[in-house]
Amino acid sequence: MTHAVLPGMVERKRGAVVNIGSGAASIMPSTPLYTVYAATKAYADQFSRSLYVEYKNKGVDVQCQAPWYVATKMASIRQASLFAPSPETYARAAVRYIGYEPRCTPYWAHALVWFLFTVVPEPIADRYVLGVSLDIRDKGRAKDARKKAM
Ligand SMILES: NC(=O)c1ccc[n+]([C@@H]2O[C@H](COP(=O)([O-])OP(=O)(O)OC[C@H]3O[C@@H](n4cnc5c(N)ncnc54)[C@H](OP(=O)(O)O)[C@@H]3O)[C@@H](O)[C@H]2O)c1
Repeated sequence: MTHAVLPGMVERKRGAVVNIGSGAASIMPSTPLYTVYAATKAYADQFSRSLYVEYKNKGVDVQCQAPWYVATKMASIRQASLFAPSPETYARAAVRYIGYEPRCTPYWAHALVWFLFTVVPEPIADRYVLGVSLDIRDKGRAKDARKKAM
């Protein structure tokens, strides 16, 4: 996509490329059991950061946004909450942020989570996220087992 749209933007001397990374790569120190997902998001992060430097003098703004949870199908979150906003709430914050920092977390409650992860010692954060991930996996396996038994 970037390859397809950049030449036109350079010609017009204006444009924005916004890639959606993830807190899994940019906020949390580790994401056990989500390793491949987090690794692809780390790619999007550095890809965007480097393109930002290459293209900022050509009038094209490249940004990687790193949300934490958003209540979508992919996240399997039905009910929006403070830390998992609805797509509409996230999108409003996201659009307002275009043109500012190249790497950002536009929704304020996600930015708060980001800050908290910077002050908690990594071994403690690692233990916490591993516990959460194992819990999610156990619940998923139990759900699968219930479906098979029906
Ligand atoms: N939700 C979160 O908590 C969260 C957190 C951090 C980052 N993100 C990132 O945000 C982005 C959007 O995710 P979302 O949460 O908005 O999920 P979503 O509501 O489930 O939307 C995913 C979208 O991607 C499309 N899609 C999936 N596989 C595709 C494929 N192989 N080819 C083309 N389109 C495909 C889906 O199309 P269909 O509707 O046709 O299936 C859907 O429109 C993703 O990059 C995700 O990693 C999400």
